[in-house]
Amino acid sequence: MKVLVVGSGGREHAIAWRLLQSAAVTQVFCIPGNGGTATLPNCRNVSLSVDDFEGILRFAQVQGVALTVVGHELPLALGIVDFFLAANAPIFGPTRAGAQIESSKSWAKELMHQAGIPTAMSAVFTDLNAALTYLGDRTLPIVIKADGLAGGKGVTIAHTQDEAQATLIQLFGGALGDAGSTVVIEEFLAGQELSILAVTDGQTIRPLLPAQDHKRLEDGDRGPNTGGMGAYAPSPLLTDSLMIRIEQEILQPAIATLRQRGIDYRGCLYAGLMITSDGTPYVIEFNCRFGDPETQTILPLLDTPLEQILLACTEQRLESLGALKWLPQCSVCVVAAAQGYPQKVETGHFITGIGKATEQGGLVFHAGTKLKNNSLVTHGGRVLGITCLAPTHKEAITRAYHALDNIYYEGMIFRKDIGHRALAPSTPETTALNSDPTPEDIGAQSALE
Ligand SMILES: Nc1ncnc2c1ncn2[C@@H]1O[C@H](COP(=O)(O)OP(=O)(O)O)[C@@H](O)[C@H]1O
Ligand SMILES: [Mg+2]
Repeated sequence: MKVLVVGSGGREHAIAWRLLQSAAVTQVFCIPGNGGTATLPNCRNVSLSVDDFEGILRFAQVQGVALTVVGHELPLALGIVDFFLAANAPIFGPTRAGAQIESSKSWAKELMHQAGIPTAMSAVFTDLNAALTYLGDRTLPIVIKADGLAGGKGVTIAHTQDEAQATLIQLFGGALGDAGSTVVIEEFLAGQELSILAVTDGQTIRPLLPAQDHKRLEDGDRGPNTGGMGAYAPSPLLTDSLMIRIEQEILQPAIATLRQRGIDYRGCLYAGLMITSDGTPYVIEFNCRFGDPETQTILPLLDTPLEQILLACTEQRLESLGALKWLPQCSVCVVAAAQGYPQKVETGHFITGIGKATEQGGLVFHAGTKLKNNSLVTHGGRVLGITCLAPTHKEAITRAYHALDNIYYEGMIFRKDIGHRALAPSTPETTALNSDPTPEDIGAQSALE
């Protein structure tokens, strides 16, 4: 079968690579793809924009594509799935209505309240003065979120009243356009973040292995937020009892409540969680697609053919697929970015050493790369991710950094402590994580890809 993947990040490269491991998948197309998908055997990039639904659908039909998988949130929020379904073309992802769970934070909050899902206390504003008044007597720090899609730039953790007020003034002043014309103000939760990506056919929901991301740019979880500087799976934070709570208190109620609203959600539902000191899993946000870089660590551990899972979701027969199978290994992904990320970066630098890294067991998933005259050059903020598997997290970390040592491009940056939390498994009680980003951490950021 032929599969089409929509997007251009490390996530999409990992999806394309995993699909092509299956005997059943003969050809993958990526729209628009990157330098990694361009050089993956049996994979071809197609130069169309992710919001050109007519072009994408026509391509899928002409090529006889059996399934389209949408990696990126933007086309989902714009309704690519509705467009495909209207033409009876199989596609993995939620409809525009379902994608609101990511594209509107206030909509997601409302759904969580209706479903009884634990989440930070919050209020929604469409008016600056009302928001400023509400702010008056709140405890600090406080979290201010633009309602709409903001490419990772929409959340500020404010430590002072001045900072909180300035953020509101900017948002209501149009700094993020429409995305910031509605604002969610919510209580700050301390704890450990955990990513639970689950696949669902709208009835049954199955979590994938739990992963943890490293959001901050610098070692020791300092510096600005990024799209993610590395990840590891499975997360030692997730005990069996915590997983049961997450399924019963979060995943199943979310799907049931979506269904009650007439939304038949088929695709990936990603719960970004904060596990607080008493062990309660709170939802920080939902995403309507696979996470990046988490997907680069999760899919290499997956033993069930990916296309079987995706098709079972789109054909609403996930229950009968049975339990998903996993390799009993640990997986660590270190992201290499470009100097200046997450702000403005230079592109066009030659990348060397990928062959050597691969020989040493590294799975090199590309993000911001492209082929220029048959040479691989940098083409974005996050350039690539190197994933290694091993029986322990410790060994996987060593292997990933060892493989990464071979790779070079001008201005390459990466964190040196990816996976550190997996080495010293700590209960949330003993972990002072996600506490206190400094005000300078919260600068304006360019799109975090
Ligand atoms: N209520 C909260 N308490 C503490 N930290 C938060 C809270 N909400 C968000 N954050 C932090 O901000 C990051 C981004 O917030 P999130 O809601 O995931 O927005 P987005 O991913 O759309 O930018 C989170 O990964 C988390 O580190
Ligand atoms: Mg997030």
